[in-house]
Order: sequence, then structure tokens, then C-alpha cells
Amino acid sequence: MSGPNTDYDPVEVTPLKADQVEAMREAALAAIADAADLDALKQVRLDHAGDRSPLALANREIGALPPQARKEAGQRVGQARGAVNQALAARQAVLEAEHEERMLAEETVDVSLPTTRRRRGGRHPLTLQSELIADLFVAMGYEVAEGPVVEAEWLNFDALNLGPDHPARTMQDTFWTEPADDHVVLRTQTSPVQARTMLTRKPPIYVVCPGRVFRTDEYDATHSPMFHQVEGLVVDEGITMAHLKGTLDHFASQLFGDGITTRFRPSYFPFTEPSAEVDVLCFVCRNVEPQSCRTCRGEGWIEWGGCGVVNPRVLVACGVDPEVYSGFAFGMGIDRSFMFRHDLEDLRPLFEGDVRFSSAFGTEI
Ligand code: DAH
Repeated sequence: MSGPNTDYDPVEVTPLKADQVEAMREAALAAIADAADLDALKQVRLDHAGDRSPLALANREIGALPPQARKEAGQRVGQARGAVNQALAARQAVLEAEHEERMLAEETVDVSLPTTRRRRGGRHPLTLQSELIADLFVAMGYEVAEGPVVEAEWLNFDALNLGPDHPARTMQDTFWTEPADDHVVLRTQTSPVQARTMLTRKPPIYVVCPGRVFRTDEYDATHSPMFHQVEGLVVDEGITMAHLKGTLDHFASQLFGDGITTRFRPSYFPFTEPSAEVDVLCFVCRNVEPQSCRTCRGEGWIEWGGCGVVNPRVLVACGVDPEVYSGFAFGMGIDRSFMFRHDLEDLRPLFEGDVRFSSAFGTEI
């Protein structure tokens, strides 16, 4: 309320003059238009339409006017307040709509955006295959044996009855380390683990050894200078070729399916006598009408590896008495087994580390 006023004219209360009311209304409308968000508008509402706003205060002055002046002043203030309230409501609606739109845009989940989550790692298909094979033998009571990939020439060749002039030495193209006088190679086969095992433990020996081997092969669809083999060795009393056959038949049926057996073809390896190439029955056509079978290329059988009865010369070189003990050994390519098990034409993806390839084979931890 205004204070005591000496030249008080009851018809002319200052806050109720037309230009004053108009100025209040203009100020309110400008502030409303300027309110950039709902919080700002809340403040504008308090300042221009609240109990202590100029228009509300002016409204209170109306009572002080003489009755004949009240009507006009009341209309003037009422219209201004009405216009301000309308503008507030309109601005409120606009700002609410904007707010809602912004929230919708900000909270939208674009399910097609690339994820920032890291892919779960996994183990290489060949590692899994090697472990599967090792497990099959562990279940038969074997132990897993390991040897170094950088190996003494003597263990890779000589101990296995591959003397320096043995023609079979050239069958395996060898990486030699320098200087050559050290007689150290990257092992060309897992067979040196046979020698290492016999030199370090007494029979009975039942070991399986999956591992990496190296040969100076060109890298192409079916060759790689690094690949994997699994070696098996048994040395005990009374071991015969029959035990070898039974073991490999069991191995084949576990890896390739029930009823998948092996066949032996006479062959030569310096460390076994007699020796055989071992083929596995084609697990796709099972040698029934193999002509159209892609997996075995019409053969009915698939070459798998080499095997034989341990040559007594190897037993002697490794300190085992051939009069008391005999043994069998076998070795096959893990990558090759993986290729035909999964119908792969090219082994290179196995070594190139593209997870899109690996994950197709299940890379569970
Ligand atoms: N080491 C042979 C190779 O790499 C495979 C092999 C043949 C292993 C006969 C054996 C075996 O244990 O008895 O070609």
C-alpha cells in the first residue's frame, strides 16, 4: 500500500494510472517472452504475477479509490493481469513441450549404435582342440608331457634313430638356429618329447604331447612353417601293435564320432618298427558310396598320421631295456585334424588371429 500522501487525489492513485499499468504489463510480457526455460518462467511468474508483483500491489490499491473510479481502474488492472496470466500459460505450454521433446531426444536409445563394450576374449580353436585331445588321453590314464620348441638336434633326430646321414632327415625341412655348431633346431616334430620322456622317467610310460612344430614350408592353403602335432608314447611290458590299434580306434571314435575306426598302411619311420600310416574312416560318408564325398575326396578314408612299435634302437638310445619293455608311438597333425573335422579348405585362418573366424568355432573360456 502506498504511504500517506499529502496531495492525495482519490481518483489518481499513481500505480493505477493507465501508463503505469501498461508499463507493468509490458514488463511482465517481455519477461515472459524472455524466459528461456521452465525454471526461469517460475521466477517470472513470482515477479510479475505473484502476491508481491507490481500488478498485484496495484490491484490492492483499487479499494482505496472512490467507488466511481474503481470500475475503470479495476478493468485496467484486471485486463493487464489477465493478459499476463494468459501469456504465462502460453509460454508454460511452449516450454513444457520443448522440455519434453528434448528429454525424448536425449533419452532415446539407439539400438543400432556400435557398442563400447569390449568383446569377451576367448581361447583359440586349436588350443581347445589340443586340450580336448589331451583330455581324451588323460581319461585313459595318460599324462600330458611337454618339451621345448627350440630343441637339441640330437633329441629331434639322433635319439630317434635319425642319424646324421639318415636319408629321412631331409624329409623334414629344418630351421636351424645360429651358430650351426650349437646343433639346435626348431623341433620339426613332437617326437623328441618321446626321447625326453624316456630319458627322464622309468616305464611304465603313458604320455601324450600336443605342441607346436616348425618346418621350412611355404605358407599356403595346406602348409605353414609352424603347425601343431600330437604325439603319443606308451612303454610298458608286453605292449604290441594290437594295443596301438585299439588305442587309435578309441581316439578316432572319441574325436570323430561313434563307429569311426582306423586302418593301418605299412610305412616307414626310423623311430618305429614296424611302422604304419594311419587313416581314419571318413566320418561323413563312412566309406559308404564315397565317390561323391567331399571330405575324403572319394577315398572313404582320410590320412591322419604315423605310428608304429617303438624301434628297439630308440629304447636303447633312451636307456630303456628292450628285452623287458616294448612300446608304441603315434603322431598326427592337430591342424590337419581340425581342418577335416570342420571341412576347412585353407589352414591359414587358423594362424591369422581374426576373431571373426575363431568365434565361429566357439572360443569359450
Ligand atoms: N613324427 C612324425 C612326423 O612328423 C609322425 C610320427 C610317425 C610320429 C610315427 C610317431 C610315429 O610317433 O610313431 O611325420
